[in-house]
Amino acid sequence: MKGLILAAGRGTRLRPLTHTRPKPAIRVAGRPIIHYAVENLLEAGVREIGVVVSPETERDLKVALEGYPVRYVLQEEPQGLAHAVDVARDFLGESPFVLYLGDNLFQKGIRRFLEAFKPGVSAVIALVRVEDPRQFGVAVLEGNRVVRLLEKPKDPPSDLAVAGVYVFSPEVLEVVRGLKPSARGEYEITDAIQGLIDRGKTVVGVEVEGWWKDTGRHQDLLDANRLLLEELTPKVEGDVVESQLTGRVVVEKGAKVVRSTVIGPAHIGAGAVVEEAFVGPFTSVGPRARVVRSEVEYSLLEEEAVVEEVRLRLQECILGVRAEVKSRDGLPRAHRLILGDLSQVELA
Ligand code: TTP
Repeated sequence: MKGLILAAGRGTRLRPLTHTRPKPAIRVAGRPIIHYAVENLLEAGVREIGVVVSPETERDLKVALEGYPVRYVLQEEPQGLAHAVDVARDFLGESPFVLYLGDNLFQKGIRRFLEAFKPGVSAVIALVRVEDPRQFGVAVLEGNRVVRLLEKPKDPPSDLAVAGVYVFSPEVLEVVRGLKPSARGEYEITDAIQGLIDRGKTVVGVEVEGWWKDTGRHQDLLDANRLLLEELTPKVEGDVVESQLTGRVVVEKGAKVVRSTVIGPAHIGAGAVVEEAFVGPFTSVGPRARVVRSEVEYSLLEEEAVVEEVRLRLQECILGVRAEVKSRDGLPRAHRLILGDLSQVELA
């Protein structure tokens, strides 16, 4: 069994972050998103892993994956998931493989999908029940067998959305070879799977256990960060001086927390500085980032991001690599509030 992680997309919905950095290299809860994919594959016993990269994403992904035993496959243009499989043909050879979207997160790993890949099965697809399936690939099942797949249907025939992990027998490569681009101009993996079904092959749907997150939009990054932080094992390897750490908090090596309050779950990256500051729940402070005389909560600060002298609490913020928010006295300050019934606010 081989693994193929896709990481050659443009990530248009995550701009401006993805103007300078591929989505799977963005850090949540202290690690690049793609680490979780590689770890889940290794944990499921998949040892030969290929990563599909584009000319734009290649360099950053190689940095993010340094030390991991993976190979790289170049997709010149992101022409669709099935196209990415097609360009990885030589890497895949005659082996069955797990196709893993590099921006997807699965709380409980991917073992159950591999276990469902029994002799006679041509594909296994991961399914999630969602409230509004119209923006997803949607599956129609008979028992556990997928009988039809529709891409973003206006009138969804079920609430089972297709999540970003698939297991394929090498037969799919033949179907992929014969695909035509869809209305949006991409070679769709749903069309390849429908092709297998049309040939009478067995495609099995398996529901995802635990949470699943596709990190396509900004809110998804904050959500993913929150979900992953909730599973951290607390540890303090950096220096903590005259500070209070409460709950699940990780302070990595070389980080300094000085005269500050950190309320978990929170992750303070290696070499980061938190000084006379408040770092609230669900916050990741990236490696060598700085939070000084400021308050930050439910936020994601990338490597070397800086928040200085910002007394109004920053909330639900994402700061890219080396982004800076600084305040100087005399600048106007604003409050943005949404208050429910009977709220009381005192602004001192
Ligand atoms: P998408 O989320 O469909 O696309 P994207 O990441 O480019 O984002 P956006 O829609 O905001 O522009 O892709 C899912 C994953 O698959 C993602 O990790 C990128 C990867 N991918 C490829 O490797 N090759 C491709 O041709 C496409 C379309 C995506």
